[in-house]
Amino acid sequence: MPTKRILLIIGGGIAAYKSIELVRLLRKAGMTVRCVLTRAGEQFVTPLTLAALSENKVYTSLFDLKDEVEMGHIQLSREADLVVVAPATADLLAKMATGQADDLATTLLLATDKPVLAAPAMNVRMWLHAATQRNIATLRGDGVTVMAPDEGEMACGEYGPGRLPEPEAIKQAIDEALAHAPASVPLTGQPDFAPSRHRPLYGRRILVTAGPTHEPIDPVRYIANRSSGKQGFAIAAAAAEAGAEVLLVAGPVPLPTPPGVTRVDVETAREMADEVAAGLPSDAAIMVAAVADWRAADTHAQKIKKDGSGQVPPLALAENPDILAGLAKSAQRPALLIGFAAETNDVIDHARAKLAKKGCDWIVANDVSADPMGGETNRVHIVSQDGVDSWDRLPKQAVARKLMEKIADELDARLPPARD
Ligand code: C5P
Repeated sequence: MPTKRILLIIGGGIAAYKSIELVRLLRKAGMTVRCVLTRAGEQFVTPLTLAALSENKVYTSLFDLKDEVEMGHIQLSREADLVVVAPATADLLAKMATGQADDLATTLLLATDKPVLAAPAMNVRMWLHAATQRNIATLRGDGVTVMAPDEGEMACGEYGPGRLPEPEAIKQAIDEALAHAPASVPLTGQPDFAPSRHRPLYGRRILVTAGPTHEPIDPVRYIANRSSGKQGFAIAAAAAEAGAEVLLVAGPVPLPTPPGVTRVDVETAREMADEVAAGLPSDAAIMVAAVADWRAADTHAQKIKKDGSGQVPPLALAENPDILAGLAKSAQRPALLIGFAAETNDVIDHARAKLAKKGCDWIVANDVSADPMGGETNRVHIVSQDGVDSWDRLPKQAVARKLMEKIADELDARLPPARD
């Protein structure tokens, strides 16, 4: 069996002295150990002790140029079979969880493609603090093995969980981790979607409608659609990120305005239609709002009362303007007009029919039968005269970014180049 190689990162804490015993155990088991000491760790154990026990050079600084010549920090982080952090202090765990890399130890932890095992040690309150527990959960979610600390009396006199596990227990966890260690850990943080061009909508104007509309019946009641506004807001955000000048006409939703987006809040379909008209001209319009098809024909100025007779009041409805269809016919029709369709069955057939009925260029159809509205993901089909482009289920942000790429290409084909 080839010799197992451990990269041992020693954080600063009173428990750092136990790392000396750990190095001894690992060497006795025939493993190669390379030690990295944090600046705080150096206060508790000396590089000399660790070098003597590990029979290897001890690394302390990112800026040791000689080491860069002998061995780059990337190589150092990857030539091990397992990276062990012991003691893993609250500070080190926080830095690992947030991906900070401001010294040699944290840089190695961010750059490594090997499994990582952390043995925490800290004061009981620090261990139990919500921030530390959050960091531990993040790290575990990222695939880092975080051992549970021992419980007992602490150097500071308090009692509880937070003591560094005994070196034998860490050695055992190392043996287990090595038994399952892959040659390299796959990246988990792949972006959902990587834009292939920088700000592809720069110089374009994009209009977005989002959210539901509320159609008042009386001062306390209204007719509405189920719509969280999340997809529309994600689209407005992605359009702004892609460099466009964005006007978001939003129905009543409690969502923050995305950076760089101009937002106009409306309540009813008619207000939305007015604001859309006022927002023209626009190069593209993306109508994501779930507009109420009908409104109450008469709005009561006062709350309608139950009169105790058991008779229900009549509710006459009037049809709302179809904003999308109206825009398609207007003299200021945007070069690219996109509608949305939430369907529960025959998604693509219904979308094709809607494309013709509304007079728009694309319908972004999504099947809401399996997934209730308001979720975080969407599986969409872009239906146009040219056919159907079906995408995998993606987070709404990823759908939005991918849509911006497609819109940018289409606008480049339909319009002269955007102004610089
Ligand atoms: O007819 P349906 O409501 O299914 O059409 C959905 C598409 O039409 C969406 O893009 C929506 O924003 C738009 N729409 C509109 N005005 C309406 C109704 C729907 O702009 N009154």
